[in-house]
Amino acid sequence: MRTRASISSRSRSSVIGRPVYRPAVSQDPYAGIAAIYDHWCAEVTEDVPFYRMVCGGADGPVIEIGGGTGRIAIPLALSGHRVLAVDRSRPMLERLRERAAAAGVAELIEPVEADLEHLPDLPRTDRVIAPFRVLMHLQDDAARARFLTAVAALLVPDGLLAFDVLEPTRADIRTTQGLLMERPSGVREKARWDERARRLDLDVSYRGHATTMRLHWVPGARWPALLDDAGFEVLAAYAGFAGEPFRGERGDSAWIAARR
Ligand SMILES: C[S@@+](CC[C@H](N)C(=O)[O-])C[C@H]1O[C@@H](n2cnc3c(N)ncnc32)[C@H](O)[C@@H]1O
Repeated sequence: MRTRASISSRSRSSVIGRPVYRPAVSQDPYAGIAAIYDHWCAEVTEDVPFYRMVCGGADGPVIEIGGGTGRIAIPLALSGHRVLAVDRSRPMLERLRERAAAAGVAELIEPVEADLEHLPDLPRTDRVIAPFRVLMHLQDDAARARFLTAVAALLVPDGLLAFDVLEPTRADIRTTQGLLMERPSGVREKARWDERARRLDLDVSYRGHATTMRLHWVPGARWPALLDDAGFEVLAAYAGFAGEPFRGERGDSAWIAARR
């Protein structure tokens, strides 16, 4: 599959052994790594042009679900978009505030502390995005359906939803299962894949910062039905961010759907 930094892939990492600890999955798994998130994800840049393209021509504001520290929100704001960055992690949103101020776009980005499973009142808009596998925090089809239905209600007709997700390949699972890997950045990851439950528990640690997060996947080919049921028409599906069409294979997929 395409290599993206973070969320275990063997490439550009070295196996350094098997750790003895197994931290619990926490309510806000990003709290423990907010300070190192940008270091962890420094190599992840390939999706920025995709989300910029999706948001081109938007009347806005762009609603970013799981806005994090602004990795996508800040480039969008630098392109002139107003962004509402919804995230349940206060430490991630604090980083976003600092970074947006440093980039000179604080006035264009509004952090909204909220859970994506219980979206607050938000303005209707023509763009909603959920970059970098945010929807993998939804644990089952019922939660996915509720979320997509709530997003459809936020969008004006023909408004766009764009997101990307991962369905790991068998090789991803086989080559990283249970192994402590160190990335060139020094960030350590350990993936525990449960293929039957389609669930990943991922430990991340770096210089005293550590977390364990739980992520869920569905076969990529399932997204069209989920989107259709929630009132969306799929406009484009890609097997990554270089424009290659999605043909149902495992790996990353990126979706653009319009509210009917
Ligand atoms: C992988 S990060 C992506 C951040 C940003 N979109 C990016 O591309 O760098 C996932 C983000 O989703 C947020 N998140 C996870 N579960 C959430 C939930 N249930 N409600 C709101 N935000 C959530 C996390 O706090 C984190 O900031």
